Amino acid sequence: MKKFIVFDGLDGSGKGEMIRRLEAYLKDKGNKVLVTREPTNGRFGKKAQEILKTEKDPKASAEKCLELFTKDREEHLTEIEDYPGIVICDRYYYSTIAFQHTQGLALERVIAANIEFKTPDITFILDLPPEIALKRISKRGAAKEKFEKLEFMKELRKNFLRLKDELEDNIVIIDASKTKEEVFEQINKEIDKIITEN
Ligand code: TYD
Repeated sequence: MKKFIVFDGLDGSGKGEMIRRLEAYLKDKGNKVLVTREPTNGRFGKKAQEILKTEKDPKASAEKCLELFTKDREEHLTEIEDYPGIVICDRYYYSTIAFQHTQGLALERVIAANIEFKTPDITFILDLPPEIALKRISKRGAAKEKFEKLEFMKELRKNFLRLKDELEDNIVIIDASKTKEEVFEQINKEIDKIITEN
């Protein structure tokens, strides 16, 4: 892949909308773009999604989640590594580190489990107060998932914000509580620094 761009953050942070906008922007400039996501619909990703849908306690199944999300990632990377263009991924190892650490696993351990995976060229962590994220989630009308609970999300937000200090990756924290236009403008500015027209 020519560039590997990741979006991560709380559920309800608006990743989907920003990814659609960035995809259009990059295609408009003549780039080949693949949008993908984790968990995938592969065997491990499906099992993980099943757990998220059926369980209520956000702290349960931490070990199983760590195992399934990392195995899913390993498989996913082999599928996308040869893509001849820009890859935009919705969630990546930042989710494993933040969510599974919030579930109670040691930070060193969740980082170690992901250390070998490809480092993105740039990562946007969309940050906003969990109260706003939850309001957006309830507007969607979908059933609440295991992790979509205020107390868990407060801790999760802190853990996402820590990643910039804990990892050496090129992480940009974006204020996702602003309007869509303002949020995309922050992203656009960073993208223009790393993408040259072709
Ligand atoms: P899903 O509903 O498939 O995606 P989304 O809600 O973002 O459209 O579920 C993703 C959930 O899985 C989300 O709550 C974050 C969680 N997750 C982890 O806990 N660890 C991980 O490594 C990944 C990739 C996701």
